[in-house]
Amino acid sequence: MQTATKAPETPVQTAQLDPTHILQIGMGYWASKTLLSAVNFQLFTFLAQKPRSAEEIRQKLGLHERSYHDFLDVLVALGFLKRTGTDGSAMYQNTPESDFFLDRNKLSYLGGILEMSNNRLYRFWSDLDEGLKTGLPQNELKQSGSKTQFDDFYSNPESLKEFLRAMSGIQMGAFIAFAKQFDFSHYSTFLDAGGGNGAFCVQVALNHPGIQCVNYDLPIVEPVAKDTIAHFNLSSRITTAAGNFFKDGLPKSDVIAMGNILHDWSENEKLFLMKQAYDALPKGGAFVVIESIIDNDRSQNAFGLLMSLNMLIETKEGFDYTFNDFDRWAHKTGFTKTDWLPLAGPTSAAIAYK
Ligand SMILES: C[S@@+](CC[C@H](N)C(=O)[O-])C[C@H]1O[C@@H](n2cnc3c(N)ncnc32)[C@H](O)[C@@H]1O
Repeated sequence: MQTATKAPETPVQTAQLDPTHILQIGMGYWASKTLLSAVNFQLFTFLAQKPRSAEEIRQKLGLHERSYHDFLDVLVALGFLKRTGTDGSAMYQNTPESDFFLDRNKLSYLGGILEMSNNRLYRFWSDLDEGLKTGLPQNELKQSGSKTQFDDFYSNPESLKEFLRAMSGIQMGAFIAFAKQFDFSHYSTFLDAGGGNGAFCVQVALNHPGIQCVNYDLPIVEPVAKDTIAHFNLSSRITTAAGNFFKDGLPKSDVIAMGNILHDWSENEKLFLMKQAYDALPKGGAFVVIESIIDNDRSQNAFGLLMSLNMLIETKEGFDYTFNDFDRWAHKTGFTKTDWLPLAGPTSAAIAYK
């Protein structure tokens, strides 16, 4: 028997329904990839020197003649460049934000995470459907069979440095805010566990002359951290320690931080790491995580929720979590009190006191 095809329903259009948001997000990868290409070409670093004409930019970046005007004017329309003039004599320059955050020669450069997005994550996210259906990572782990993502990230010196630059880039605003806001007056030592290139220790040392800092990470990362610390002339205030926090325990310290560490791992591994921190703290000591902590209702911090999907792409069992989750794990570990400190944008600190 044939069934009649149901005619599509005629939607009732109310004046308030606006498709702009759907289109903006749905087609957002156009804008995203344009910015990532500009960062990858180091356009903002070039323009930090002085304003340039479209032709000068074309030549410097090695662009084909077909679309370079569109490329530059998209960046104007999106608010990343300013243009004076409209004809052949038009000049392009950075906006204040692009100049501050996207010039590779400035210490405030956060383009490391955008470079890594361009070179790795953008491609891997195109397999999100597969990740959602299989629960498996969609990055290098798919082919490599490595035990953890770090074995792949650190397989050559260039990708090691790119990864560490990306990590400190995305966290820098939060590190600075924490170093300025947290009350260090009861403490004299600070350990950053999984501290990568040492950027967090640098901020704590710069803001708190009385605090002695240790940057702890895998042995392969230690030389990069030593370089960063020496670059800031802080070698007398910050030392490095190499080890594996799943096998070697953590050095003792009054304050122990983990920035974007717990979200890399399963719930059992998270609890194990929190116990390592607990054991290494004195009574009254503080364990601090700095992550894109998801709001308890799981409906507001879109970046934190997206970060959790990024953990699906990048790790075997990692996921991001709410402050309530952290509070529950902290009490299970033995901590007596927890606190929450908003830092920069979607990133905050969750603190557990022993
Ligand atoms: C996602 S990155 C976070 C880096 C930095 N804390 C931040 O907030 O940007 C994770 C860090 O954990 C380190 N790590 C991974 N496994 C580790 C292990 N088993 N022992 C010590 N450090 C480890 C990595 O080398 C890397 O620096």
